[in-house]
Amino acid sequence: MIRINYLVDKVHLYHERYIKTFTSELNLNHMKNKMIISTCLVLGLFVWACGGSDSEQQQNVASTETEEPARKDDKKGIGSIKNVELTHPLNQTMVGDGEKVYNLKCSACHRLTKEKLVGPGWKEVTHRRKPEWIMNFSTNAEEMLSKDATAMALLEECLVRMPNQNLTEADSRNVLEFMRSNDGEK
Ligand code: HEC
Repeated sequence: MIRINYLVDKVHLYHERYIKTFTSELNLNHMKNKMIISTCLVLGLFVWACGGSDSEQQQNVASTETEEPARKDDKKGIGSIKNVELTHPLNQTMVGDGEKVYNLKCSACHRLTKEKLVGPGWKEVTHRRKPEWIMNFSTNAEEMLSKDATAMALLEECLVRMPNQNLTEADSRNVLEFMRSNDGEK
């Protein structure tokens, strides 16, 4: 604003001199001319000033957007399971316990083949998903269906939200072992 006031003052001075030289005989029109020219100049400066600050604001917005890095998807899903150590060979007790959980809580919607029932068939599920993802999804389906990109894409395919199964972490680990067995691991 200080800069604008300074410019307006300069314009006024110039304008005063101009008026004295060229319109001394037209004193009647003096006030009218002065008002019209001053109004145009002030309006022009105002528009110029607004335009300037606008583009500055746009630059600020752009720079804050680029400073925020997007969260990288590690494909492990969302939930309490961060790291799963797989054992070789398979633990057959766990496979057996996993099968029991499957028969009780999962078989209504999941086949052991590739065939889709309500949810996808489990054949090759351990090849297309990380073990952490499978266990997080088995224990935390609701949250993942709203936030995890892979789960959200599955939901678009199946159109049914898998309800939380209230599995313990141990149960979901046993089911994972059963899935590995179903996929031919020894
Ligand atoms: C009421 C039906 C239903 C039951 C019961 C169910 N699921 Fe699901 N499941 C789904 C659906 C539907 C999907 C696909 C995602 C979606 O649309 O929610 C899915 C997806 C999955 C996936 C991902 C499959 C893939 O191809 O990536 C896993 C893993 C899974 N379920 C595990 C389980 C486990 C473990 C149980 C049992 C403890 C279980 N589900 C019980 C309906 C069910």
